[in-house]
Amino acid sequence: MGEFTPLYIVGGIIGAFTVLFLAAYITLKKKKAAVTFDRNVPDREIMARMLPYAKPYWKSFVLVLVLMLLAIAYDIVSPLLMGDIEDVVQKDSFALRSLYLRVAVYAGILIISLVSTYFQSIVLQKTGQRILSNLRQDLFTHIESLSHNQLNQIPVGKLVTRVTNDTNAISMMFTNILVNMIRNVFVIVGVLAAMLFLNYELTLMILCFIPFLVLFTVIFRTFTRRVFRTVKDRTTDINTYLSENLSGIKITQIFNREDAKLQEFLQKSEGLKKAKRNQMFVFGIFRPMVYMLYISSVLCLFYLCGRGYIRQTTFLGQTITGATLVSFYMFISRFFNPIQTLAEQFNQLQSAFASAEKIFTIFDLEPELVDEPDAIELDHIEGEIEFKDVWFSYVPGEWVLKGVSFHVKPKETVAFVGSTGSGKTTILSLICRNYDIQKGQILIDGIDIRHIKISSLRRHFGQMLQDVFLFSGTIRSNIVLREESFTDEEIWQACRYVNADHFIDKLEGGLDEVVRERGNNFSAGQRQLLSFARTILHRPEVMILDEATANIDTETEILIQDSLEKMKNIGTMLIVAHRLSTIQHSDNIILLSHGVIREQGTHQELLHQKGRYYQLYTLQFNEQQRALNQKNA
Ligand SMILES: Nc1ncnc2c1ncn2[C@@H]1O[C@H](COP(=O)(O)OP(=O)(O)O)[C@@H](O)[C@H]1O
Ligand SMILES: [Mg+2]
Repeated sequence: MGEFTPLYIVGGIIGAFTVLFLAAYITLKKKKAAVTFDRNVPDREIMARMLPYAKPYWKSFVLVLVLMLLAIAYDIVSPLLMGDIEDVVQKDSFALRSLYLRVAVYAGILIISLVSTYFQSIVLQKTGQRILSNLRQDLFTHIESLSHNQLNQIPVGKLVTRVTNDTNAISMMFTNILVNMIRNVFVIVGVLAAMLFLNYELTLMILCFIPFLVLFTVIFRTFTRRVFRTVKDRTTDINTYLSENLSGIKITQIFNREDAKLQEFLQKSEGLKKAKRNQMFVFGIFRPMVYMLYISSVLCLFYLCGRGYIRQTTFLGQTITGATLVSFYMFISRFFNPIQTLAEQFNQLQSAFASAEKIFTIFDLEPELVDEPDAIELDHIEGEIEFKDVWFSYVPGEWVLKGVSFHVKPKETVAFVGSTGSGKTTILSLICRNYDIQKGQILIDGIDIRHIKISSLRRHFGQMLQDVFLFSGTIRSNIVLREESFTDEEIWQACRYVNADHFIDKLEGGLDEVVRERGNNFSAGQRQLLSFARTILHRPEVMILDEATANIDTETEILIQDSLEKMKNIGTMLIVAHRLSTIQHSDNIILLSHGVIREQGTHQELLHQKGRYYQLYTLQFNEQQRALNQKNA
């Protein structure tokens, strides 16, 4: 057996693993090349876009760096001290004083290191939370600026994941990952310098392991980037599924679809489980590989040191003492550890980049509806509305409105009738500029709405829709809603005006009664009355009612009819209602069919025309008569 046979064996094992690894890498890389992602932004570009968030806190980061240098002093100095202690023990008489001194120095350095680490993490956490909150805020503001059209295309669950998980990953990047990476680089450089200073031969031996470590890391990196992304995609899947299905869970129960929904959920859950398992698998291979390299280097160290100790010299002629062995043994773990964690942190960084990429896809959605540079502010409007040959489609090519033109004078009440899907809701949402039209013009007081600031435009509208959306909070917060402040008297006045005071009066908390999510502790009619009060309070010049009177009991309907009559005095009113009795007294009735205006006029005029409106009216009238006769019989 040759003198260096043990070293050859170690080399052989590492070589074999490397070949195995490379082979697996090449085959898997080919197989998985088919996986494509929606976007691939270079790391550098992501970093460049992230940095502005950290920039305001650069002072904190400098402080952290200084504290970090203090903290890592321990890693570099302690092995040297330990090696030295061996010299103390070797002497004939036990040098107790010298030992005490060394222990004191050791303890001192340790304490400094611990205290610095403590403050470092405090400063970092604070900074991280600030960055996180800024990022969340920006993202939320951006989401708010998106148009209805854009929002329709992104599931809510996805947005929730972006604002919570993904922003968190990015803040982690600045606080934990980047800083620890820098720390590890410092440790590696420091330990390397100390080792070179002690014994350059042994250091060279240890460095022989580095290329393998780098190779494993590179391979590992490609795999983890992939698994991290899959984990993220699956998490988004689950969140999206949950947010939709939890909102609809009552429907699920009513239709006895629990089992089917559970199966769907299990499928998503299984997907996430698999992705997580793959992630663990990748880490499960990487960590033992690095450990193997570490153990191999320790074995080589012991072998070479032992050999050198016996011969008083190594192969290149540097002397080796017991102290060298002790210090090197300690240094090796301090050298390998940061390299291993560095590789893993590199992957966490990749994960954070994946999050950043997803967040930037949201940030990159240019708000479609933006104010023109010279858009004007409207303090007051008369409430005159004109549609001039308006063409509109949600999906390119599928016209929903085909050349709609009509004119509404200030304070007029205009009703839209027509079968479901004929475009009534669409017309109403175009007036508030929830969507931009493709052709034609919409004028408010003779001004094209595209020349008016969106916020200023919407301030003059009050919308009352069929599904009233109440936010969790109180009755008061839901009525006031906007930033203006109102006195209790003003709020009550609005409530009385729309007959909402009766039921609010009976509530224990009155205006401060708690409203649960979506207002599910109130009836549809009560919610409707609240939405009327909400609208009236702000005294809009134009009021929009979209089937706000449907699905309401007769008693509430009478209340609502009464408040509608009163509201007509406030401003222009646009109504969609299926019950023609609700709209009979409108100044103008517009009958729509498939996005085209078929008939237009007052109730009497339309009846005279004996057209579609007449048919509808007689249909409803006969229906009513039949119901009455049945009741009397
Ligand atoms: N967000 C949307 N995306 C695509 N198509 C839509 C959207 N909203 C409504 N539509 C379509 O536009 C047409 C008119 O809808 P709408 O104005 O809601 O009808 P109405 O209120 O008269 O019942 C329908 O055919 C509907 O399918
Ligand atoms: Mg509708």
